[in-house]
Amino acid sequence: MLNDRVFMSPLQCERGTNNFATFAQVGFFMTQEGHIPHLPGKSGRFSGGKLGHGRELDVAKGKVGVSTEEYPALPDEVMTNPLAGRLDPRRWFADPERRFEIEIGCGKGTFMLNVAKENPETNFLGIEWEGAFFAYTADRVRRAALDNVRMLHADAVEFLKWRCPDAIVNTIHLYYSDPWPKTKHHKNRVVQDKFLEQAWRVLVPGGELRIVTDHDDYWAWMQTHFARWTDAKHAAGHLAFTRESFVAPEWVGEGEVVATNYEKKMCGDTKQPHAAVLRKP
Ligand SMILES: C[S@@+](CC[C@H](N)C(=O)[O-])C[C@H]1O[C@@H](n2cnc3c(N)ncnc32)[C@H](O)[C@@H]1O
Repeated sequence: MLNDRVFMSPLQCERGTNNFATFAQVGFFMTQEGHIPHLPGKSGRFSGGKLGHGRELDVAKGKVGVSTEEYPALPDEVMTNPLAGRLDPRRWFADPERRFEIEIGCGKGTFMLNVAKENPETNFLGIEWEGAFFAYTADRVRRAALDNVRMLHADAVEFLKWRCPDAIVNTIHLYYSDPWPKTKHHKNRVVQDKFLEQAWRVLVPGGELRIVTDHDDYWAWMQTHFARWTDAKHAAGHLAFTRESFVAPEWVGEGEVVATNYEKKMCGDTKQPHAAVLRKP
């Protein structure tokens, strides 16, 4: 996982996260430690390395993995018109009229595979910025022949802000998001005021943001943010979210919350994760 981002302008940022970017374009992914994640080649094939146990991974570009034709670089015009990069990701699916859900940070993809199999009439977009995890999950989706899942290799926070139109998403899933425990890294946490504002904007009325974490300090941070965004006085110009308790999907096993890879490995029977639902009225 990434340790620190190099901050750039919105245009540079977005270009750097474009899926199937050239090597020169991946600057955004470089960390202060100089870490560069694995990226699939132009063919959409990826040498699986450790994750793929040496097997070549195929992200099925244009079918599972969102292609550069479907997700072109942000236009220069975005510098003067912030809406110039907006596109409709529902068009990436065979039936764009279906219910539409997004998972941010799919990791190895177990939640995505399960939720998509259980809900064949819903379209799911998985957004994962780490190339190795993106490729691993996209390859799993391809092998499972799920036609209701697309995978985007990008920063989900930037995607919501610059690309996603208003009121099109029924559910946003954010499970075991990186906690960035050091204070100087808190700015990298996905849950921020600006993220909650964008989540509110892209959700349909009645849509929900579902969040689970096992990290006590990140949970305390979330609670503070949720309190602001469930308070109509704070959420100026917007209606605030309403807060609801989290009900686990019916298909998870006993004691599980969302049954992601992380949850299975890190929580087991001992750690009870924190969970919340924020609903757009
Ligand atoms: C701790 S892992 C959890 C993965 C998965 N949700 C699970 O529970 O197994 C967090 C994942 O989120 C991804 N991630 C973090 N920030 C992201 C962002 N802004 N956009 C897309 N993916 C992100 C990381 O690369 C990583 O795969």
